Amino acid sequence: MKTLKVLLRYTLATIVSLALPATPFPAHAAEQKAEVKSPVAKENGVQSKNEEWAKTSPHQYESWKKTSESETLEDLLKKKPQLPILWAGYAFAKDYNAPRGHFYAVQDNINSLRTGAPVSPVTGPLPTACWTCKSPDVPRLIEEVGEKEYFTGKWAKYGSEVVNPIGCADCHDSKTGELTLTREYLKRGLTASGVDVAKLNNDDMRSLVCAQCHSEYYFKKTEETDAKGEKKATLTVTFPWDKGFKGEDMEAHYDALNFSDWTHAISKAPMLKAQHPDYELFVSGIHGRRGVSCADCHMPTKKDGDVVFTDHHITSPLDNIANTCLTCHSESEEEFKEIVGIKLERKEQLMELAMDSLAKAHLEAGKAWESGATEEEMKDILQDIRHGQWRWDYSIAGHGSFFHNPEETLRLLAQANDKAQQARVKLAAVLAKHGVIGYVVPDFSTKEKAQALAGIDMDKEIAAKLAFKAALLQEWNEEAVAKGRLNMESRKGMSDHSSYSK
Ligand code: HEC
Ligand code: HEC
Ligand code: HEC
Ligand code: HEC
Repeated sequence: MKTLKVLLRYTLATIVSLALPATPFPAHAAEQKAEVKSPVAKENGVQSKNEEWAKTSPHQYESWKKTSESETLEDLLKKKPQLPILWAGYAFAKDYNAPRGHFYAVQDNINSLRTGAPVSPVTGPLPTACWTCKSPDVPRLIEEVGEKEYFTGKWAKYGSEVVNPIGCADCHDSKTGELTLTREYLKRGLTASGVDVAKLNNDDMRSLVCAQCHSEYYFKKTEETDAKGEKKATLTVTFPWDKGFKGEDMEAHYDALNFSDWTHAISKAPMLKAQHPDYELFVSGIHGRRGVSCADCHMPTKKDGDVVFTDHHITSPLDNIANTCLTCHSESEEEFKEIVGIKLERKEQLMELAMDSLAKAHLEAGKAWESGATEEEMKDILQDIRHGQWRWDYSIAGHGSFFHNPEETLRLLAQANDKAQQARVKLAAVLAKHGVIGYVVPDFSTKEKAQALAGIDMDKEIAAKLAFKAALLQEWNEEAVAKGRLNMESRKGMSDHSSYSK
């Protein structure tokens, strides 16, 4: 957004109290590309092996590889024991960790208890679509077999195919090296939201390459009977963007379809799970509105001798304030760390309130059913719970939302708390009607207690996963190596953390 950037300078200099540095905006990498070789990784097809790109782009490759340094695993179910209650009946209640570096995307997907323990290509709980945001093998596969075939079948179908973590060919064209959208569903989502995709330029791409994965989505199901008379389900990643980017807009999209991700195991509410609407929240935040791109903060320009290149070590911009925030602002590093810290603290407070209210609403609804409440009595209440939890999840599922768009995050959290409290007021009346007065929900103050209330047998889940890792996973890797899709060297030094085997 070059024109915007010029405009930006004046906006900042004239209106904003955050002072600008004396130097003008640095020309970003797009303008300096001539200094770096444009990579042609493969003449035909998609080059999904990241190490192959190192030959033409060593600086970008080496910096990309540094995403492996973000390897600490944070078990969020432990940190926030309300979560197993909120997600009771859904796989997220078993395992949910904070994001790590892109280097771990495939490994974390495999290790997650959410992907289960398949024993063959046609078993396991999840569809192929669950690989979609994990690897450049996905655009390679889609080019080879077509989008429809890719989105049909079980996750285990592609265990030996999807083996390289998020990398070059997720964001770059293998033939021209240009930034490109490798996921058609993003183009469809943008079109539905009113964007003319033919008019997108390289500056737009500096955010849109991220939006391919850091967005809200659901799996749209189509069923068909094949020649052998067998039923086949295709689950296609779809962005619910036709009504707008606000939490309520997407809620309206799902409500209109009568869509739910699952039925809550305790409250029986028809639930929605938000994914990670980083892009949507960012767009309406102040940086997004002023034309700052994801890459401006997460992929700053870096120098190595004479070579100026884009730093591909995508991580927290706070680890590199001098090269990110301070290219536009002129506060001190300490000041900026404090600003982000304050935003985080505000979000934490409201988030805790919303999560507590929602968890209690689920448990009280469970008690109401037990006490003989009727469908009619519960209908409204369950809708409040659905909408309240959606708004909470939508506001915080993108882990940077509190910074990308603080006001919107807080607004949605307040809404979530209000909806949950409305449900609880109505529940008190229903419970009283069925003779239950002064009900106090059971203790869910630890992950273990909350998972027990959610009815999860963790020992069984973990044992099955370890058996899968010892058997089928080994076959996948051997086949991937034999077929030339995976170079084991590329995984050298990779630790194997998970929430259940630290
Ligand atoms: C998540 C998306 C993403 C991934 C993954 C990615 N890149 Fe980039 N790459 C970018 C962006 C954004 C730019 C900046 C381009 C611009 O502004 O024109 C860029 C720029 C480049 C450039 C142009 C020169 C420069 O440094 O600005 C090269 C070469 C390059 N990347 C190579 C690679 C290689 C090699 C890999 C894999 C090891 C890779 N990229 C992975 C997004 C990505
Ligand atoms: C192909 C899908 C994909 C693309 C493209 C992508 N991401 Fe990610 N990103 C992920 C996934 C999946 C994770 C979580 C990986 C894990 O935890 O194993 C992640 C994690 C992250 C993290 C957390 C890293 C950490 O160290 O904690 C940041 C920050 C991030 N992405 C930013 C970006 C930005 C900025 C872009 C665009 C320049 C981008 N991503 C493009 C899928 C993607
Ligand atoms: C490419 C330029 C650019 C970069 C990089 C950038 N900012 Fe900004 N920042 C802006 C602009 C433009 C505004 C909006 C000013 C306005 O018009 O109100 C802004 C506004 C802000 C505000 C005030 C609004 C709010 O959200 O509270 C804060 C705080 C802020 N930036 C912090 C940061 C931090 C921290 C970083 C690094 C992680 C950063 N900025 C990186 C350009 C940038
Ligand atoms: C103005 C700078 C700025 C822009 C623009 C920006 N981010 Fe961020 N992002 C941040 C900061 C600051 C954090 C908070 C980091 C922290 O808490 O350590 C963050 C956090 C994140 C996280 C969570 C990382 C984690 O480990 O929890 C993800 C993912 C992310 N951003 C992706 C994106 C995507 C995708 C875009 C564009 C759609 C984007 N960001 C645009 C500054 C920015």
